[in-house]
Amino acid sequence: MIITTDKKELLEFLNQKRKLGSSIGFVATMGYLHAGHQSLIEQSAKENDITVVSDFVNPIQFNETLDFESYPKDIDRDIAIASESGADVIFIPGVNDIYPRFPEIDFKVIIENDKRALFIDLEAKSRPKHFDGVVTVVTKLLGLIYPDKAYFGEKDYQQLLIIKDLCNEFFPGINIVSCPTVRESDGLAMSSRNARLSKEQRLSALAIPKAIFAGIEAIKSGEKNPFVVEEIMIKELCKESALSIDYCVCRSPVDLEPIGRIVDQARVLIAARLDSVRLIDNLGWQKESK
Ligand code: PAJ
Repeated sequence: MIITTDKKELLEFLNQKRKLGSSIGFVATMGYLHAGHQSLIEQSAKENDITVVSDFVNPIQFNETLDFESYPKDIDRDIAIASESGADVIFIPGVNDIYPRFPEIDFKVIIENDKRALFIDLEAKSRPKHFDGVVTVVTKLLGLIYPDKAYFGEKDYQQLLIIKDLCNEFFPGINIVSCPTVRESDGLAMSSRNARLSKEQRLSALAIPKAIFAGIEAIKSGEKNPFVVEEIMIKELCKESALSIDYCVCRSPVDLEPIGRIVDQARVLIAARLDSVRLIDNLGWQKESK
């Protein structure tokens, strides 16, 4: 596996591979890799000749300095995991490789004047300008690597939908592949931020997947009212007093708009905090086709 911090070296390698007709898969990460990232890398390695992983903690997508500064890092471990999972290149740029005049930013992709829930509600509401930071770095990385396919996790469902939208407009040639959420054996969605939980907080965090599964179970059992589903989930979350709920909703999986009634499909989404650690989770339901 090639380990590089250099854009030029990365481009030369990719150009050479492209000339040989190799297909390129890409997995963008902020490092501290876990089994969730691993599943994306493995899928890309299966479906493409070359897999590139980027490892960059993007400073402009964080709303809180503490969250950015305490974001866990372990580059040696990341290199080992990426390589084991089948990556051919790990690209580890410095902040000035992505933002040459940081903290000044010359070019930014900004989501503006969009009143749809996807862009103003849930994560967008709780984390103002977060998605501007995400789409800016993703635009830069996709422009650099220009993969045939790029893999993103359903764990960050709103991010996934926004990146699909972004690609429809800016990179219609790139295929965005969505990958299911990988969970710990007790149900907690894998996240780099889990490393910041104390033992007690880790236990309290389990209320999040419990609520998610309770919501989906209710829908499977025939509940059609999204507000009842939300109440069921909130009840589960309230069993853990250490958790503070940011949002807990049952929405349309297509655009995250509120729905009056559950018909063929729905997505339940939760964000909650344990002190300074903010966790998110979600899951979808789709009517079985006969
Ligand atoms: P990060 O949180 O490191 O996640 C990188 C990719 O891994 C994202 O597509 C995310 O959805 C996916 N992922 C994370 N946890 C997962 C899990 N438990 N199961 C499946 N997939 C999972 O998301 C980001 O970084 C950044 O916002 C980024 C897109 C890299 C832009 O900076």
